[in-house]
Amino acid sequence: MNKVAIVYYSSTGTGRSVAEAVAVGARSAGAEVRVRLVPETAPEAAIDSNPKWRAFVDSVKDEPRATLEDLVWADAIVFGTPTRFGNVSSQLKSFMDSTGGLWSRGKLANKVYAGFTSAMNPHGGQEATLLCLYTTIYHYGGFIVTPGYTDPSVFAAGGNPYGVSVTTGQDGRGPTDADRAHAEYLGRRVAETAAKLGGH
Ligand SMILES: Cc1cc2nc3c(=O)[nH]c(=O)nc-3n(C[C@H](O)[C@H](O)[C@H](O)COP(=O)(O)O)c2cc1C
Repeated sequence: MNKVAIVYYSSTGTGRSVAEAVAVGARSAGAEVRVRLVPETAPEAAIDSNPKWRAFVDSVKDEPRATLEDLVWADAIVFGTPTRFGNVSSQLKSFMDSTGGLWSRGKLANKVYAGFTSAMNPHGGQEATLLCLYTTIYHYGGFIVTPGYTDPSVFAAGGNPYGVSVTTGQDGRGPTDADRAHAEYLGRRVAETAAKLGGH
């Protein structure tokens, strides 16, 4: 059975919904899946400045957090992050920046990788965020699996071929059914590709 780790950061829950949809897709392809938030690094005062952020942090406080062992365990890793000024969130980047030891021993190479993000605006930097995220994967020596235009769900969700992306709008709405279908497709595609490669 192939092993898929979904390692993500979310401040208000959008990314969590996407992570769960990716997991549904990966499991449908027979994968064993771990879904893990990375640790929060923002100061309490910043979290308290946004009631939605505070509520989300409180709601997930008892969940296991991503560890380096999750990355070693997985054949495929899907990273998720909200868009932050067109870039990867510092919380996910901080976790990725803790992987130098694994990287230097080749422990992150030859795995399958993919990404998802969300942003408030339709053109708020979703694609730029995914491309920034993938730069680290190039250094890992990973195999990046994108949706491309290989399934109708990509078009239905707005046509992002780089990875899954959600537009929350100013009211912070979560993923649409079309976004979830896109995310499930990506999870399935990642798990199927990992199976073809036969594990790391
Ligand atoms: C510091 C900061 C920077 C952000 N930068 C962008 C941005 O560049 N473009 C955009 O459309 N939305 C931006 N947003 C909105 C986030 O992308 C939005 O909060 C995110 O999609 C919510 O995902 P989550 O619920 O998983 O945390 C920003 C939000 C914050 C707090």
